[in-house]
Amino acid sequence: MAAPIVDAEYLKQINKARRELRSLIANRNCAPIMLRLAWHDAGTYDAQSKTGGPNGSIRNEEEFNHGANSGLKIALDLCESVKAKHPKITYADLYQLAGVVAVEVTGGPDISFVPGRKDSNVCPREGRLPDAKQGFQHLRDVFYRMGLSDKDIVALSGGHTLGRAHPERSGFDGPWTQEPLKFDNSYFVELLKGESDGLLKLPTDKTLLEDPEFRRYVEIYAKDEDAFFKDYSESHKKLSELGFNSNPSAAKAVADSTVLAQSAFGVAIAAAVVALSYFYEIRKRMK
Ligand code: HEM
Repeated sequence: MAAPIVDAEYLKQINKARRELRSLIANRNCAPIMLRLAWHDAGTYDAQSKTGGPNGSIRNEEEFNHGANSGLKIALDLCESVKAKHPKITYADLYQLAGVVAVEVTGGPDISFVPGRKDSNVCPREGRLPDAKQGFQHLRDVFYRMGLSDKDIVALSGGHTLGRAHPERSGFDGPWTQEPLKFDNSYFVELLKGESDGLLKLPTDKTLLEDPEFRRYVEIYAKDEDAFFKDYSESHKKLSELGFNSNPSAAKAVADSTVLAQSAFGVAIAAAVVALSYFYEIRKRMK
């Protein structure tokens, strides 16, 4: 399918969809499953054959019925209400936008979002997403296939700060953290505490402590939430753009609108400073 034309109208629709997603996610408490949807659409990418990736193919029955995607139909259906109001927006963009908004509304870092992804109806073969029962070599095989690094693997695993496992979906049970609707660095803090706290630790979570390179990042992120947020934001952006060559004009339009917003903010601050100093002067003269 052709890439969407990212013009001013498309950007306007993206901004409206972003606001609707914020309220939908806050009202339905569905940030975790929206983040899982975005990750499972993107995480099938194969850098060599340039197939899979964030292309909306997960909306097809063949793919959402893959064992790893169990339960994600709920998130697909929730996204339909936003798609119905903004039919121009591709599913590929919508699912990635939902992932970015899910992190944002639960208190996580801002993640820059560039629209323009193409939709595809070609589903990847089953088995490209990681298997939670395996170890660090498997994690490397899967994430290196996407073109991602050790740092990306650990930072993105921190996405399990949100949500929980459901026995009827994956066979695992329970949340990773005490507050599964808050995006913070507690996934790493709990991981280092070991199994005593009764919180969930998948074999793939525990393996992050066995490999020295992975463990190095776990320890940094457990101590320093700012470092985690910075790396998470970069890794999430990479994941959301696997195989996506953003149209330079779309990236520029997004950058320009950010600069515009920032300069409008700057002008407002300057005006407030001028007004305050004016009142201060008047008060001084009245004394
Ligand atoms: C590193 C390899 C990964 C494995 C093996 C893995 C495995 C799993 C499993 C088994 C579940 C439970 C599903 C259920 O029963 O509902 C789950 C849930 C979840 N995963 Fe992962 N995951 C991985 C990476 C990621 C990444 C990279 C992200 C996002 C950046 C992520 C975000 C989530 C979220 C938010 C949930 C909770 C969903 C809910 O509450 O409904 N996971 N994951």
